Amino acid sequence: MISNKMTGALNEQIVHELHSSNAYIALAGYFDSLGLKALARRFFIQSDEERDHAMKFVNYLMDVGQQVQVAAIPDTKSVFASVEEGVAAALEQEERVTAQINDLMALAHDEKDYATASFLQWFIDEQVEEIATVSELLQLVRLAGPDRVLMVEERLMRMGFEPVQKPTE
Ligand code: FEO
Repeated sequence: MISNKMTGALNEQIVHELHSSNAYIALAGYFDSLGLKALARRFFIQSDEERDHAMKFVNYLMDVGQQVQVAAIPDTKSVFASVEEGVAAALEQEERVTAQINDLMALAHDEKDYATASFLQWFIDEQVEEIATVSELLQLVRLAGPDRVLMVEERLMRMGFEPVQKPTE
């Protein structure tokens, strides 16, 4: 059994993860509008991962017999001044989520809720990975500069972020 306070906090995190998912759809759409298909693909994939994160919280709440509640998802930004600004926004998003996960872990420890702490450990590790990969991407975008953003596309394609072929009708 977990506390009502913890249940509320975990339900809030569902919204944060879905907000990330939506933010990355919008960011992918921005990159696609610039013809940057590999960057778009990378963020569409990350959007799917964020939805999976939300579902981990949903499944955990169901496992511990608590009510799942999904509040309204805040608006996301869809237009950016540059590729660098878009990727920097993704890093800021991940830094926010890292702080949220850390707060959840602190609450779990405060409440001696070791089951939830164990559940949250996966997210602590995941955030280390996500901050690292988006930081590397931002570094690459800055290194390439606005005139050589196609170098970023080539690097991403070598990493397996192939543009999706749209089905022919
Ligand atoms: Fe679910 Fe990228 O944080």
